[in-house]
Amino acid sequence: MAELVAEHERLRGHHARARGDDLRHLPVQQAQRGSRHRQQRGPSQRAAERAGEVTGFFIGREAANEAEVLNLAVMPKFRRQGDGRALLSAALEEIRSRGVQSVFLEVRESNLGAIAFYESFGFSKIGRRKIYYQDPEEAAINMEKKLTGPPG
Ligand SMILES: CC(C)(COP(=O)(O)OP(=O)(O)OC[C@H]1O[C@@H](n2cnc3c(N)ncnc32)[C@H](O)[C@@H]1OP(=O)(O)O)[C@@H](O)C(=O)NCCC(=O)NCCS
Repeated sequence: MAELVAEHERLRGHHARARGDDLRHLPVQQAQRGSRHRQQRGPSQRAAERAGEVTGFFIGREAANEAEVLNLAVMPKFRRQGDGRALLSAALEEIRSRGVQSVFLEVRESNLGAIAFYESFGFSKIGRRKIYYQDPEEAAINMEKKLTGPPG
């Protein structure tokens, strides 16, 4: 799975701010909170498998009552077969069970497939970060899903 993550990071050309465990990448609302309220969990990850082969992975993290999707990818040959949906559904269910109220993520502005995927889960566009990604340089779309309503 480490190789799959590394390959996805390379393809994604993720901005340096998204690397490592520092809190600068976390949503603004969260970064502004006092450390007294911050209870950060280590990164959580899960993988999807078919016949012993890893087909995709999810990496996220939580602090206080907010969570963030850091990475989610399905191997190209397994896309549009429901693995991404299964991974994100399971992750959201677990996140919700811990009382998290909002989930945030960033996605490349040109990644219309992923944006459609997240919108199908009820994520909404809440902002745009200019020149957020490198290699190639591109804006990020910020998305949020609130978990305070009924599951879905
Ligand atoms: C985004 C991604 C994880 C989706 O995984 P997936 O396994 O292909 O998605 P699913 O098969 O579970 O799709 C669920 C639904 O999402 C939507 N969807 C998924 N991919 C889509 C696309 N390319 N275009 C439009 N809608 C899409 C559809 O509504 C789909 O349901 P349907 O197939 O019944 O129409 C996958 O395309 C991927 O790995 N992309 C590259 C990495 C990436 O961009 N990650 C997100 C940024 S972190």
